[in-house]
Amino acid sequence: MRLAIIGCGAIGSTIARAVDRGTIPARLVALHDIVEEKCRELAESLGAQKPLVARSLEELLEARPQVVVEAASQEAVKTLGPRILEAGAHLVVLSVGALLDPEARDRLLEAAQRGSTEIHVPSGAIAGLDALKALRLVGIERLTLRTRKPPRALGVETEEPKLLFKGPASEAVKRFPANINVAAALTLAAGVEPVVEIVADPAVERNTHEILVESPASGLRIVVENTPSPDNPKTSYLASLSTISLLRSLATSSGLRVGS
Ligand SMILES: NC(=O)c1ccc[n+]([C@@H]2O[C@H](COP(=O)([O-])OP(=O)(O)OC[C@H]3O[C@@H](n4cnc5c(N)ncnc54)[C@H](O)[C@@H]3O)[C@@H](O)[C@H]2O)c1
Repeated sequence: MRLAIIGCGAIGSTIARAVDRGTIPARLVALHDIVEEKCRELAESLGAQKPLVARSLEELLEARPQVVVEAASQEAVKTLGPRILEAGAHLVVLSVGALLDPEARDRLLEAAQRGSTEIHVPSGAIAGLDALKALRLVGIERLTLRTRKPPRALGVETEEPKLLFKGPASEAVKRFPANINVAAALTLAAGVEPVVEIVADPAVERNTHEILVESPASGLRIVVENTPSPDNPKTSYLASLSTISLLRSLATSSGLRVGS
């Protein structure tokens, strides 16, 4: 599998290193970041892999990736995503909030159709999307996401727990574009928007997501407590790991697919 990465920050670097170690059986053909230096440093830190440092999307596509991981920003998904999909590469989207913008989503889906390609959304920093996809078949009556993060991860200072936001997921991803992609992944899996609460809590060390679901078939209460990535406290290590796991299954066709 020929793989390219857009965004050489916390998640992009972890994925590149997983390819370099052989955890993802793929060839890393290109890296791209608006800050070119970040790609250069990452490329130089790798051993076995010698990716091209692409200065533009065109250069990245010239490396003929079969799969492109977006680990950059919602803006990158909207501006670069359609051209990637149309050029024949599958797109793995981390900045999932972009997919809650109906116009952007339609453009991406049309491009995927033209390119006979697919958009993959890893489960990211949460768990339970498999059950939500199943429960939407009988109707989801109530879906709530309560996110607690250390104040520094949310860019605030407070001595007490502070509710920063309560409202629909589509509004949450606009107000906190780098922090609440999990709300977008839940929306896409469930087919309904969760009510999102974001709390800055000095008492928590881990990024904590509590997902509450009510449906005629099941009630779910899922609590995920994530260690922040050492490179970016906003980002949970699990987000990188779930992407690595997805890329491993895209790269190997063992015929056995679990939990997808
Ligand atoms: N789905 C999830 O569960 C989940 C979890 C954590 C983070 N994320 C999202 O994944 C993305 C990456 O997270 P991260 O922690 O690696 O972030 P990061 O800030 O560590 O790295 C992002 C990198 O992308 C680059 N970048 C930004 N906009 C770009 C553009 N338009 N074109 C090219 N490069 C661009 C930046 O220069 C930076 O180097 C963010 O949008 C983040 O919100 C998703």
